[in-house]
Amino acid sequence: MRKIPLLVLLMGIFELKAQTITIPIETSQNALVLQTDKDNRLGIIHFGKKLSQSSEYVTIGQSLKYNDNNAGIYNSIYTPSGSWSLVEPAFEVLHTDGNTSSELKYVSHQTQKIDENVSQTSILLKDPIYPVEVTLFFKTYAKENVMEQWSVIKNQEKGNLILKKYASANLYFVAKDFYLHHYHGGWAKEMKPEDTKLTAGIKTLDSKLGTRANLFQPPTFMLSFDRQANEDDGKVLLGTLAWSGNFKIDFEKDSYQNLRLIAGINPFASEYTLAANEEFKTPSFIQTYSENGKGEASKNMHNWARKYRLLDGEGSRLTLLNNWEATYFDFDETKLTSLFKGAKELGVDMFLLDDGWFANKYPRNGDVAGLGDWQENKKKLPNGIGYLVKEATKAGVKFGIWVEPEMVNPKSELYEKHLDWVIREPNRPETYFRNQLPLDLANPEVQDFVFGILDDLFTKNPELAFIKWDCNAVTYNAHSMYLERTKKPQTQLYVDYVKGLYKVLERIRAKYPKVPMMLCSGGGGRVDYEALKYFTEFWVSDNTDPLERVFMQWEYSYYYPAIAQCNHITDWSNVGIKYRTDVAMMGKMGYDIVVSKLDEKELLFSQNVLKNYKNLKETIWHGDMYRLVNPFENQMASVQFVNDKKDQSVMFNYLTENRYDLNSLLSNIKLKGLDANKKYKVKEINLYPGTSSTIKENIIYSGEYLMTIGFNPSVSNRRTSVVIEINEVK
Ligand code: GLA
Repeated sequence: MRKIPLLVLLMGIFELKAQTITIPIETSQNALVLQTDKDNRLGIIHFGKKLSQSSEYVTIGQSLKYNDNNAGIYNSIYTPSGSWSLVEPAFEVLHTDGNTSSELKYVSHQTQKIDENVSQTSILLKDPIYPVEVTLFFKTYAKENVMEQWSVIKNQEKGNLILKKYASANLYFVAKDFYLHHYHGGWAKEMKPEDTKLTAGIKTLDSKLGTRANLFQPPTFMLSFDRQANEDDGKVLLGTLAWSGNFKIDFEKDSYQNLRLIAGINPFASEYTLAANEEFKTPSFIQTYSENGKGEASKNMHNWARKYRLLDGEGSRLTLLNNWEATYFDFDETKLTSLFKGAKELGVDMFLLDDGWFANKYPRNGDVAGLGDWQENKKKLPNGIGYLVKEATKAGVKFGIWVEPEMVNPKSELYEKHLDWVIREPNRPETYFRNQLPLDLANPEVQDFVFGILDDLFTKNPELAFIKWDCNAVTYNAHSMYLERTKKPQTQLYVDYVKGLYKVLERIRAKYPKVPMMLCSGGGGRVDYEALKYFTEFWVSDNTDPLERVFMQWEYSYYYPAIAQCNHITDWSNVGIKYRTDVAMMGKMGYDIVVSKLDEKELLFSQNVLKNYKNLKETIWHGDMYRLVNPFENQMASVQFVNDKKDQSVMFNYLTENRYDLNSLLSNIKLKGLDANKKYKVKEINLYPGTSSTIKENIIYSGEYLMTIGFNPSVSNRRTSVVIEINEVK
């Protein structure tokens, strides 16, 4: 036997140890720690609270036991398929030579500090056999405790690489139990929550709807560790995928208390071909983790969204009067201009003209025709949009307009001229959703057309102040004539549609950076954090019944800040105007009513509320939100907003169950987020004319008192909606 010199042996051991790479990715509170194993595969060794001594992370890996060697390690940061792992993969490809296996090993990593708060770590992984690379990106927002994750896959083979599964994120957690808070929905029934304890196997949240991705299931969820997290305690991850198309989020739990989360574009009918040297960037998975409950996690997300994601998130918004429910398709110039006066009288900033203003050969007098023909309807609007903009300006309000540029009615000139622009199976009967079909945004000509609709409107009417961008159909018969013509696989349509949409939005924002735009989709079937890069707000739901909205807005509020949520007061329900208005005030407020039909008291009430809103909107839009009383567990809801300086706050309280036994309403509600040492006065606002408040106004409370002893807004079946303004006494 050859003798190995001691020095070489020692060097070998040293080298082996040195090869273990530990990568902590941290925010101010949390850490995701990755480490290479003996085979140079990268796994997650810690997810949760960060350690103050980051050198100690190295030790975690030594105590980590992988539970079943036969099934490979479980903690992979990007689980490949077809080799050593038998669990749900994050990454599955078909190589040029037909081979289906993949392996990803650590090569290198780097962390770049973008500014004081934001850092980006990128980690290069490579298949040792095939020239395929995956770079994992982790962008951290320290103060907000938010992490954004995506991956870039690069094909360096000589021929095509087919991506079968290409997740954005693959996380791994260990806990006693896992509880998932997720949603289902439908038109006018958005964001219905459900809680489930995860059992062994895979729980999937997904969408295959194409355009209106989250009509039935949104890509947002909260995952609690060990036990159900509450508003103020418990460990919880709040996550969402920033992608306006089909998504899939898998939660795979095994028999060893391991949970893997794999989130990304839905692989359903979506194989994507990468030619040699091409790369694919996945959408972002965005998450925040808190050990102090859902409230803190949600606050993290709000702070991040306003500062870094939502268009003009730290800016202002316009209050408006919309004509949809007031007129539907039945209007003309005279009727519209008469509504402008109402907008002014009410005191809103803008009038928003909804659906029905366009198309001539097949006039848009209902939802069966005209979509796609974006010329003003000459009969309804003989003097065009320009005239309306002028008249609105004369009446003292701004003017905004509705479009649904991604869609076409088969009864339209667009359909007649450009059948090849329509998503449809040429050999099968067409299937409609609201009598319409999506246009093929994979096609650059269609992208130009969609951009052109907006560009034309803005060019002709530079004063146009607002766009409501609608999208009312899902994608049936997902077939693209463009992909067929260019000999690209049809399986790219779902992905290329969304990429095409983003290209259009990118162009719109390059030319019109700040014009406020509302993201709408036959109610709230479409909202995510990629689309919100381009939109200032989103339509929560067509359902404006205020009682329903208390619950719906409650759930949306975990993920999206109030400034992004459009809440309109409409005649959808016959609940009194006060309750309707108070609920709408908890976000970006608007109206969809005929002002001239309000009686004297209703008008006076609404005018006063708009004045109150002016005074409080900064606190509602930019302040911290606190959920005080959960309507899913109580007979009422209570929500509070506090501004940065903690000198103004507003508390919204609603009766949500009109039972005889209202004892639970008698107790005080503890406020949150105030300054314990400041002195405050509370005052009931939004009082209906002719009523008086039961709340005493001349008491001065300390912040400590309001947060420790609390305060009773006196909600009852005679006071079903109570808004309290809280101001510092200086
Ligand atoms: C969708 C929207 C509504 C309205 C109509 C117009 O349903 O959600 O607010 O704009 O379209 O057709």
